[in-house]
Amino acid sequence: MKTAAVILAAGQGTRMRSKTPKVLHPIVGKPMLWHAMNSVKVAGTEKTVVVVGHAAELIKESIGEESATFVLQTERLGTGHAVMQAEEALKGKVDQILVMYGDMPLWRPETLRMMIETQEQNEGPMTMATIIADDPRGFGRVVRNSSGSVLAIIEEPQCTPEQLAIKELNVGLYCFDADWLWEALKRIKLSPKGEYYLTDAAEVAVSDGGRVMAIPIQDHAEAIGVNTRIHLSEAEAMMRQRINHEFMLSGVTMIDPDHTYIEASVKIGQDSVIYPNTWLRGDTVIGDDCRIGPNTIITDCEVGHHCVVLSSVLEKAMLENYVDIGPFGRLRKGAHLADHVHMGNFGEVKNSYLSPGVKMGHFSYIGDAQVGENVNIGCGTITCNFDGANKNKTVIGNDAFIGSGSMLVAPLELGKNSITGAGSVVTHDVPANSTVVGVPARIHTKGKNTKAT
Ligand code: UD1
Ligand code: MG
Repeated sequence: MKTAAVILAAGQGTRMRSKTPKVLHPIVGKPMLWHAMNSVKVAGTEKTVVVVGHAAELIKESIGEESATFVLQTERLGTGHAVMQAEEALKGKVDQILVMYGDMPLWRPETLRMMIETQEQNEGPMTMATIIADDPRGFGRVVRNSSGSVLAIIEEPQCTPEQLAIKELNVGLYCFDADWLWEALKRIKLSPKGEYYLTDAAEVAVSDGGRVMAIPIQDHAEAIGVNTRIHLSEAEAMMRQRINHEFMLSGVTMIDPDHTYIEASVKIGQDSVIYPNTWLRGDTVIGDDCRIGPNTIITDCEVGHHCVVLSSVLEKAMLENYVDIGPFGRLRKGAHLADHVHMGNFGEVKNSYLSPGVKMGHFSYIGDAQVGENVNIGCGTITCNFDGANKNKTVIGNDAFIGSGSMLVAPLELGKNSITGAGSVVTHDVPANSTVVGVPARIHTKGKNTKAT
């Protein structure tokens, strides 16, 4: 059987008190709606339709128009009316429709799968998820008859005192027979609140003589809907815990998972250790046997195996294997550190390639540079790459030795085995095997240096 998903996201989310539409607020680095869409996809649905209304264009743009079919609900006339908007896109194309709300990002794909499979076995037209809880949270109540069959879902404002006492609650996840749904929605009557409630589909099913399956969900945490920023932080904590547990089960050590922040799209290899207060973001990939953190932020970086990053901030950079950085290192866009590069405290690298074995121990800035193998960059070295108008390139040959406090005024080329004296301001290219000293730097010996090793 084929199932399509309809995700309702037309509401504004007033209680978030935000300029950003509710479903775009991020959880572990991805919009809330992304999580809902991802779960239905992983659960194996054929197609996803997202019903948008408030801030529709912004939502489409942020999520990506190609990732789902977006349909517009121009007037917000209730959840039943919202689902109706998906009819045109789905009618006759699938057998079942899974409906969920875009502000419920924590549904596990397995739970959605279970809903789909339950409906596949159900001779009636509708399956719904419920929780049994003492705190009703304003949810609709599930009314059953004496033999346990579902009769209706009653919204809290319409409940009688007896119905208010019912502990089985509608969490807002349903799977319907598709042909039945499109027709049944048209039979839903306007509620006293002036909305067409999707929940009234249960009564329509019962009046058709069909069975409504109601499945109590054991893990209430999955049914966390986000209405306020407090709920948002709860959902974030839940998702963080899930991600961290998965990593730990796959062979990653976390000293304190409650204070380790890893976004949904990050990958980490076996036997790596992530220390507290580390935030791994975006499309970051960490290899095996690394030690990352504490106090580190890595965004969109590729880190190889056996790397150590201590108290550093890395963005859009690449580290090959056995690289160590920090404490207090900073890598910016386009920094590429090859095998065995050592970068000690207070270093910054931007748009530069550091070849294997480069050592840069303390307080240096390397920007727009190509640094050869085994170059030693003395403490306080700076590539003066910006002349006020343009960025200029520095090229340093293999085995060069850059003395402490050297200012390398780009564009500049230093030959292999060249040496700059401490404190030199290098304004002209340095030939291979030569030493320059002074301000501005002059040739001290020419062509005499041999490789140190
Ligand atoms: C709904 C259920 C309630 C359930 C609760 C669980 C109905 C009538 N009630 O109530 O039984 O216990 O969820 O959280 O369904 N939406 C639209 N268009 C609309 C109206 C709503 O897209 O015209 C979207 C909202 O953006 C939201 C979702 O549907 O994502 C739920 O709507 P909301 O108004 O929050 O329903 P609840 O009152 O929470
Ligand atoms: Mg709600």
